[in-house]
Amino acid sequence: MNKGLLKKLGLIVAIGAMAISIVGCAGNKTTEGKGNSKEATNSLEAIKQKGKLVVGTSADYPPYEFHKEVDGKDKIVGFDISIAEQVAKDLGVELQVNDMDFDGLLVALQAGKVDMVFAGMTPTDERKENADFSNIYYTAQHGFVVRKGEEDKIKSLDDLKGKKIGVQKGSIQEGLVDKNLPDAEKKALAKVTDLVLDLKNNKVDAILVELPVAQFNCEKNEGIALTSLVLEDEEGGSAIAMKKGSAELQTEINKTIKKLQDEKKIDEFVIEANKLMD
Ligand code: ARG
Repeated sequence: MNKGLLKKLGLIVAIGAMAISIVGCAGNKTTEGKGNSKEATNSLEAIKQKGKLVVGTSADYPPYEFHKEVDGKDKIVGFDISIAEQVAKDLGVELQVNDMDFDGLLVALQAGKVDMVFAGMTPTDERKENADFSNIYYTAQHGFVVRKGEEDKIKSLDDLKGKKIGVQKGSIQEGLVDKNLPDAEKKALAKVTDLVLDLKNNKVDAILVELPVAQFNCEKNEGIALTSLVLEDEEGGSAIAMKKGSAELQTEINKTIKKLQDEKKIDEFVIEANKLMD
């Protein structure tokens, strides 16, 4: 066979494959997409058929999500979980919550191990390339926590020069430290609970987390305190992540969020979650 004919044949095969994949998409909306291609799959129908919403979270972020013993059993609670419960209820399915490291959540989502991520996650442009996000349901500033007795010494970013700052791996706080504290030493750990321990054990000098998390931890843990230094959230707040191409699901979730916001329920969930501190 000559080269020209080979090329033509190749082209015909390629066009044929494309046609099949287009027909495949249009004709079969309810099934999962083919392989790990990023084309739109109807995640909403998939969840409904399964009868279960599998949510990924990083339960180290009170009052958003955290572990709590309820009736002798370990449970994941928090205002994100209350919202997830309402989403599951509105979809008419059961809720399952899987705890994992924050920096593995979007990978788990893309791999189809979870249907959604509820983790106080900020919808950054970079993350939006790999996931769809709901509307923002909560906003917060970022706060620095230090060892008790040092809180009054930290009034400006300059006061943190040369200090060791703890942040969660894969979080936007990592970027905030890089940007605002180029002279500080950054230490990134998978779990915020370990950051708090590091702070208490003098392994870091300050930790940076969302302000409600900073406040919760300071009230719960002796020996650590909140500084008056806060960083504004320039990226908009918390949203629910779902697989790229989840337009139908996104619409449904945004309905639930709107309803909860109109009824001031999210504020209630936040208050309830803060009360769960013992
Ligand atoms: N909002 C920050 C981010 O999106 C941190 C969220 C951390 N969440 C958690 N559950 N640990 O990067």
